[in-house]
This record gives sequence, C-alpha cells and structure tokens, in this order.
Amino acid sequence: MKTEKVWRLGMGDVQTLPGSRHRPPMRKPMWIIVLVLFVCGFLICAYIYPPRSSSACYVFSSRGCKGLVDWLPPIPAREYTDEEIASRVVVRDILNSPPIVSKNPKVAFMFLSPGSLPFEKLWDKFFQGHEGKFSVYVHASKTKPVHVSRYFVKRDVRSDQVVWGKISMVDAERRLLANALQDSDNQQFVLLSDSCVPLYPFDYIYNYLMHTNISFVDSFKDPGPHGNGRYSDRMLPEVEVKDFRKGAQWFSMKRQHAIIVIADSLYYSKFRAYCQPGLEGRNCIADEHYLPTFFQMVDPGGIANWSLTHVDWSERKWHPKSYKAQDVTYELLKNITSIDISVHVTSDDKKEVQSWPCLWNGIQKPCYLFARKFTPETLHKLLHLFSNYSTP
Ligand SMILES: *[C@@H]1O[C@H](CO)[C@@H](O)[C@H](O)[C@H]1NC(C)=O
Ligand SMILES: *[C@@H]1O[C@H](CO)[C@@H](O)[C@H](O)[C@H]1NC(C)=O
Ligand SMILES: *[C@@H]1O[C@H](CO)[C@@H](O)[C@H](O)[C@H]1NC(C)=O
Ligand SMILES: *[C@@H]1O[C@H](CO)[C@@H](O)[C@H](O)[C@H]1NC(C)=O
Repeated sequence: MKTEKVWRLGMGDVQTLPGSRHRPPMRKPMWIIVLVLFVCGFLICAYIYPPRSSSACYVFSSRGCKGLVDWLPPIPAREYTDEEIASRVVVRDILNSPPIVSKNPKVAFMFLSPGSLPFEKLWDKFFQGHEGKFSVYVHASKTKPVHVSRYFVKRDVRSDQVVWGKISMVDAERRLLANALQDSDNQQFVLLSDSCVPLYPFDYIYNYLMHTNISFVDSFKDPGPHGNGRYSDRMLPEVEVKDFRKGAQWFSMKRQHAIIVIADSLYYSKFRAYCQPGLEGRNCIADEHYLPTFFQMVDPGGIANWSLTHVDWSERKWHPKSYKAQDVTYELLKNITSIDISVHVTSDDKKEVQSWPCLWNGIQKPCYLFARKFTPETLHKLLHLFSNYSTP
C-alpha cells in the first residue's frame, strides 16, 4: 500500500512536471555548466600533473610553462607531518630574525681531536695579538690533551667517545656548537681537526668569515654508490632522495645556522636511525650526509656548497693524502691557496666533475682558509714557513 502510494505520488510529480516544450531553455545553462566543469577539471589535472614536455606547455599557454606556473599558487609535494610543520616554522623564524649584533664579534675555533693537538704551537702563533676576536674549544674524544699554548688551556669541553662514520661524530659536532653558542659574542663557528692548519694570517681569515652571511658547508649531489647509494627509503617521508647530499664534515657556519643545527631533532633522529656504516648493506657516514642534506632541505641558498678546509683526494684512496715533512714546501702551500674553483667528482661510473667558482659575496676568491691532513712531523717546517706563506 505504502509503496503504491509513493509510486503514485511519483507519477503525479512526473505528470505535473513541465512538458517537453519547456526543456530546450534548460539545455543551454546545462551545457554551459558541463563546459565550465570540463575546463575546470582540465585545469586541475594540468595543475596536479604539470606538463613536462614543451609541446604540452604550448597547449596551456603560448608563453610556455612559466606562465601557467606563475599564475597558480605553489602546492607542496606532499602533506607535512606535525613535526615537519613545527620544525620548518622554527627554522624559518630563526633564519628570518636579524642576527644578534655583538660589540665584540668573535670566531669560535672548534677542534675535534682524539687527544693532544700536534699543531697547537702553530695555532698559538696564528692567534697571537688577536685576543678578544676568537675563542677556542677542544673536544678530545680519547685522551685528555696536554696543552702547550695558553689559548688552549682550560678550553676542553666535556667530551664523549667518537667513532668514525657513526652518529657519535655528529654528536661531537653538536656538542661543540652548543658549548660555543653559550658565548653570545661568537658569530662564526669553524670546525677543525687535529690535522688542520691555517693558510692565512688571523685577520684575513677573520674578515673572510665575518663579512659574509653564508655558511661554508660542503654539499653536492652524488648519484653514485658513495652518495645516493647510501640513502635508505626508511628516512621517508621527511628525507627524500632528491634532497640527499654529500659533503666533507669540516664546516664554518654563522650563528643562526649553528642554532638551527642544535635545535633540530626531527632530521637528526632520521640520520641517527638510518644512516650508519654497515646498516642494511649500506655504508652511510652520518657526518658526510646529515648537515649537507639538512641544509638542502631548510636553507639551500644559505650555504656556499664548499668547505673552507682543503684536502687532497687525488690519490683516490679511502683516505685523503697525508702530507709528510718532505711534501711541505712553499710551493705546496701556494698551490693550495691559489685554488679558486670548487671541484666535486661523483662516485658513479661517469665520474662526473662538478665545478664552480668560489664566490664570496659575488667575488671569486681563494676557496680555502685551512688545509689538512698534515702529519705531526710537519710542525717545524710549517712554523718556519708560516710567516712566509701566511702573507696574502
Ligand atoms: C646577504 O647579504 C646580502 C648583502 O650583503 C643580501 O643581498 C642578501 O640578501 C643576504 N642574504 C641572506 C641570506 O641574508
Ligand atoms: C648550493 O647548492 C644549492 C643546490 O643544491 C643551491 O640551491 C644554492 O644556491 C647553492 N648555493 C650557492 C651559494 O650557490
Ligand atoms: C703545484 O701546482 C703545479 C701546477 O698544477 C704542479 O705542477 C706542481 O706539481 C704542484 N706542486 C706541488 C708541490 O704540489
Ligand atoms: C717565501 O719563500 C719562498 C721560498 O722559500 C720564496 O721564493 C718567496 O719569495 C718567499 N716569499 C716571501 C713573501 O717572503
């Protein structure tokens, strides 16, 4: 009964609907709606799947892809997690806030070493007369160092064991940064090893570091086994292979960058968990990938992409060349200081050479202020040469 009534009602409705003579006026708006929907759908598709070939671009805009891309707001490639949103907003605000202005800006020289520093006497000569413009921090991971220079006495930070290639290396770098950040006069933070030596007098290095607003963090894209071959998908979604970078660990960074490095726990924890030597058959070296990849994600334009510390990999061995006393000559040091092009070579079969000029505030300058690796026996030769080679 009920269904019959409903059916009847329905029939009644149909019967009371306007007849076929009323339909043509309805069709026109219908077609317009369909057309508009079609065009919208087409544009949405074009937006989500941007045209890749130039001919496709031509269909959308006679000015090419750029016109269309400019017209539409950018869409993030994916939805960020809560942690990523929080992390990115903190980083952005630190980078956008003006740096602390110090009346007495200093450079923090942070030494990573197993024990005593073989070149303390050379550094002593380097620092002499520049008191108040630098501070020294020593992280000795194996044995308590014996200091011979007054600039190094009582400058040891509480340290912990460091294993080459492991996250403990990054932990030591962060520990040094945190200690050095306690002094608000420190504006630039240079990481050095026990085998590093300065290539210029203090003032040259001080001015080079202070009068630029970029950090010198080494970074390049290596599609080969020693680069992307070390990447693990388990770092997803936060760390994508497109952002994975490689670079030498010896950095110099400005204060804002030092702060974002010690503030980061999200990306750091990804590297701690999935970038380890021998993990899942990969030989990921945390200190060669964490910082270059982190900066690629949060401030790619803020780093120079080369390290200020020269090292000679030309022998293509697992470790770089170590200079012995007979190698240390005026010519060697002049050779190193005359380099003004940064070169990186990929580890795949192509051995692609990536090189770019070392631009300092837009001017091509010597790339290197420091060099490694010098064996302890070179000290006397270096002390003798220092007054000579260090004159720029
Ligand atoms: C660095 O300083 C230059 C001018 O000295 C300025 O044009 C540039 O925007 C600054 N860059 C950053 C990242 O602050
Ligand atoms: C460093 O490389 C990145 C790309 O990986 C680039 O965006 C950035 O501009 C480069 N930095 C400088 C100072 O050229
Ligand atoms: C210095 O560079 C020149 C030219 O590249 C090279 O022939 C020479 O062997 C280098 N000398 C040293 C000591 O490295
Ligand atoms: C430095 O020493 C080299 C050789 O030992 C010499 O040729 C050169 O003229 C010296 N340079 C200066 C500035 O004294």
